[in-house]
Amino acid sequence: MTKNIEEKIEKLRKKIDKWNEEYYLDDNPSIDDAIYDKAMNELIDLEKKYPNLITINSPTQKVGIFLKKTSFKKEEHNIEPMLSLKNAFNEGDIFHFDEQIKKENIKDFSYYIEPKIDGLSISISYKNGKLVRALTRGDGKIGENVTQNIYEIKSIPKEIFLKDEIEVRGEVYISLESFEEINKKRILKNKEYEKKGRKPLELFANPRNAAAGTLRQLNSYIVRERKLDAFFFFLLFKDKTKGKETQEKNMNLLKKLGFTINSHFRIANNVNEVMKSIKEISNLRDDLNYEIDGIVIKLNEIFNYEKLGVTSKFPKWAIAYKFPTEIKETKLLKIFPTIGRTGRVTYNAQLEKITLLGSNVQKATLHNANYIKGLNINEGDYVLVKKAGDIIPKVIGLSLEKFKVNKEEWKEAKNCPSCNSELKIFEGEVDQYCININCPDRILEIFIHFVSKKAMNIEGLSIKQIEKFRDLGWIKKITDIYNLENHKEELLNMDGYKEKSVNNLLSSIENSKNQNLNNVLFSLGIRHIGEKTSFDLARKYKDLEIIRNLKYDELLKDDDFGEVKSGSIIKFFENKENIEIIKELKEKGINFIYKESILNRNNFFYNKKILITGTIQGATRIEIKNLFISYGAIPVNTVTKDLDYLIVGENPSNNKLNKISKDKIIEIIDINQLKQKYG
Ligand code: IVH
Repeated sequence: MTKNIEEKIEKLRKKIDKWNEEYYLDDNPSIDDAIYDKAMNELIDLEKKYPNLITINSPTQKVGIFLKKTSFKKEEHNIEPMLSLKNAFNEGDIFHFDEQIKKENIKDFSYYIEPKIDGLSISISYKNGKLVRALTRGDGKIGENVTQNIYEIKSIPKEIFLKDEIEVRGEVYISLESFEEINKKRILKNKEYEKKGRKPLELFANPRNAAAGTLRQLNSYIVRERKLDAFFFFLLFKDKTKGKETQEKNMNLLKKLGFTINSHFRIANNVNEVMKSIKEISNLRDDLNYEIDGIVIKLNEIFNYEKLGVTSKFPKWAIAYKFPTEIKETKLLKIFPTIGRTGRVTYNAQLEKITLLGSNVQKATLHNANYIKGLNINEGDYVLVKKAGDIIPKVIGLSLEKFKVNKEEWKEAKNCPSCNSELKIFEGEVDQYCININCPDRILEIFIHFVSKKAMNIEGLSIKQIEKFRDLGWIKKITDIYNLENHKEELLNMDGYKEKSVNNLLSSIENSKNQNLNNVLFSLGIRHIGEKTSFDLARKYKDLEIIRNLKYDELLKDDDFGEVKSGSIIKFFENKENIEIIKELKEKGINFIYKESILNRNNFFYNKKILITGTIQGATRIEIKNLFISYGAIPVNTVTKDLDYLIVGENPSNNKLNKISKDKIIEIIDINQLKQKYG
């Protein structure tokens, strides 16, 4: 009975939420006021009858929010002020930090190291197992009460099993995917606004700004829609005698309570291990789905914090290593489009040469036409260029010093720079696309992806060679690679090809037929389906024939694949040309089966969680990882309780070795030994 009522209430709330949004945000109601009132009254009546079903986010509780509330209530942080972190910019600063700790005669200590999330700090209070309040940092002592908005973040637990009064501190952020989605929606809205003669919405410059703008929204509908998320990294008990062991222990407790903690943490036993962890985490940066701006190093043993103390601004037991960034001004010589493998247009900047973080920069990304228009830049203008770590340099705005040179408004390309066909913008999309499947630049990108290591791993095909074969008409679609052997004689007569290199190329092509299903899936270049999703799909469904016939609802049921990914998979396998390619791949003998399922039930590593540390001779880390995957093993990134085996090569991480019992350690010298023993 109550289940039905709950469902009814939820349905009404959803409807009213949507109408509120149309009315208050879009100025565009889709229904008559009378219908709105009827639904609202129905909800009010139901909530009167079932007061235990009232939530603070029900539209009945939030009416005030729409009446132009002007600010959030300012409230004090109860247990402790929210401090900031001192910054470290180089190794010297880290060594100095370590020495300061040792000076206090603190011995036998370790460090807890994790990414520094580029978002906004939040402190959430729980009493009697219930979320009661969420405050922003504010000035550290007094923050703003944003409880209602925090309630809209799905991953934050609203109830926990711990009854102690606690404060949990963390960082609210927006994923790169959601950030793009928000700006995309704004661009689309602006198109409507332009027609109505309304002032356009400004685009968010980066995910942090988007998260900040969202969390400080007076309307929590927007928070829900924009999918904020949060990582937590600090736990405080009201009872000051509790939670004083280690950061690691507190983080484990947070995890058990249902909070998301960052999985890329490390424990380091000395300053050299800290430096190593910093390098490892820095290397992950480009693969993360959220922005990080540094790495936080905290003393792990909390009982020592008091001894070290705090300054007025930051604690002496933690430091933030900030990633280097450099911004310089230069002249924008040319704006030119390039075509990716999906046909999407990316605009690039040709720049007057500058040096950023020690390397020469002449090109930078400009994303899409809206980005360029938003920055109000054109060829000839002076622009600011930023480089952060390994990331491709990016034009971030007009020079603040020089006047705008080119007053003319920049216009986007109308035709594909490669095949000259007309560029299209799909309904509901913002990017331009070349939709010619024979477009030479598009083909080139498709091939570069197909042969890459994480895909079919075909060695001996450089970009130049792919271009050459494409121009000769030998390769038009990916399956043509498997016909290259028919051109062996011609290849041997070509400049720069010797018997050995031709044989190597052809055998590499032949070997690629045995790539595992996750690699084959990845090689297809399905939109939004990266390395990890390909792996998840392969593990779960085990056969490409099954995957290609999956229904949208089946995919969506799975937590791993959301609407975007599920939709993209379905769209890919519905396409006639793609169906043809899959058929041909099968005819050519490309493996469609996830190897674990046919070969490896008896393998020693089948279904075992493994972590590799150190170097294993004779193959790259990716190759070793793939070999383990083909044995049916599950590679993980950190030492956890349920890790089955730590695979140890040369120069392993002591930190990892120390954390695991001896019987779980397997030493491997080189790939041959691995294959002989376990393959
Ligand atoms: S520890 C006493 N860990 O960075 C400070 N902070 O610049 C305890 N931040 O205010 C904070 N990621 O909002 C910590 N993994 C992380 C973090 C992190 C982001 C933020 C936090 C802090 C600010 C300092």
